[in-house]
Amino acid sequence: MRKTRITGLLPFVALLPAFAGAAEPVAHDITYAREVSRIIQDNCQGCHQPGQIGPMSLTTYEEVRPWAPLIAQKVAQREMPPYQYDSHVGVQELKDDWRMDQADIDTIVKWVEEGAQLGNIADLPEPVQYPEIGQWRLAEELGEPDHIIKSAAWDVPAAGQDLWWEPEVDANITESRCIKAVETLPSRAAHGSTHHANSHFLVKNEAGEWVDDIRLSEFAFGKLGEKVPKGACRKVPVDSKVKWSIHYYPDGNFVEDDQVSVGIWYYDEEDDFNEAEAYPQDLRLYALQGGGDYLIPPHGKLMTQGFHSFDHPVRIDSFQPHLHLRGVAMSIESFDPRTGRREILSQISNWNAGWNHSHTYEEGFEPLLPAGATIILTSWFDNSAANPRNPDPDQWVGAGQRTTDEMSHAWIAVTHLDEEGYQELLAERQARDSNSVASIGE
Ligand code: HEC
Repeated sequence: MRKTRITGLLPFVALLPAFAGAAEPVAHDITYAREVSRIIQDNCQGCHQPGQIGPMSLTTYEEVRPWAPLIAQKVAQREMPPYQYDSHVGVQELKDDWRMDQADIDTIVKWVEEGAQLGNIADLPEPVQYPEIGQWRLAEELGEPDHIIKSAAWDVPAAGQDLWWEPEVDANITESRCIKAVETLPSRAAHGSTHHANSHFLVKNEAGEWVDDIRLSEFAFGKLGEKVPKGACRKVPVDSKVKWSIHYYPDGNFVEDDQVSVGIWYYDEEDDFNEAEAYPQDLRLYALQGGGDYLIPPHGKLMTQGFHSFDHPVRIDSFQPHLHLRGVAMSIESFDPRTGRREILSQISNWNAGWNHSHTYEEGFEPLLPAGATIILTSWFDNSAANPRNPDPDQWVGAGQRTTDEMSHAWIAVTHLDEEGYQELLAERQARDSNSVASIGE
């Protein structure tokens, strides 16, 4: 509709140079006021506004315009919003998916090519009201958390390099209940400098040593909490500690005694939740083969794999890869030895160690694995100069804790089913899929 009108106008514009200036906003197909402002509101402003972690604010045309060429480049390459997940392979139904629609990316790129015009300010949308900083975002739906665990206090300097703070604190958990939801909340004062805050439980093993157990929460800026599906029970361990891994990036404000909090909501009777009927779920670290002893030669490449199987059927609820600077990609596959079928469940092939995400599958789309099936985790490393994030291609790189060492593991939430539960879930999906096929055919 609009296109026809504009095309009709173009000959006039060409013939009448004096008129061309006045008509310019009409001659441009895409404007900031009409289309681009809305896309930026939906995809960028959560981080790119004053006091948040984006390095510049993108809330008005004046703020956005100088960045327009770089914005086009970053969205076209899918570097912004920061969410690495392959769109051409694996399960595409994800919760809290930050990926932009290709149509919106194309709109931004075209807008910039056409000169990044403002357009008619009457077309501008209302500004978005963002939730107040320092409030639990799940509180509106769930009320205040049942249990809160805080990191040990730490002074965040006003300026400097990235900082990691990894304290261990008592979890103060006396009863092993089922988690309904968890959310990580940076303090109000350090909201703009808390990049990531991940937490996991430590429990004592038989030898009395504290060991990593289940992951509690994974936070990257902009993320809402994580919920456990109702038919599953992920328990909190009693007599446990919480180990934090907090990544601060100084943003100009000194914050004394900063603490990050994690809030836990539990399932209770009011939720119509029956623990006895729920399948146990856990969120654990699955290492790749050779977890500790691989070496990547200078200018070399390496691929490692890890295999895990269960003697009962399972449902995979989420997948979070973890690699460092030479890591470039990771995939999770399922292999069913009964049929020989091998299938990619998820793949991230432009890994960026600066952003960690837990990819949670939409309900009804979580991969279901029969008893005996194998999870295959594959990581690829590139220690050549062609890897833009490689700090030094002349080094031998081994596995280790430092940022310049490598890591290769994944956090995976697994619900442990029995044969009956597995068959029920399969039947539900078959019914859904045959219904949707029928409605397409109508
Ligand atoms: C989750 C928070 C977050 C979201 C959402 C986000 N950004 Fe960013 N953006 C950042 C951070 C942090 C940086 C700086 C570090 C980096 O590049 O990873 C950045 C960097 C950038 C840069 C590069 C700035 C420079 O100086 O090099 C551009 C351009 C940009 N973002 C544009 C966008 C656009 C456009 C969107 C939406 C389509 C967006 N960002 C969404 C957090 C975010």
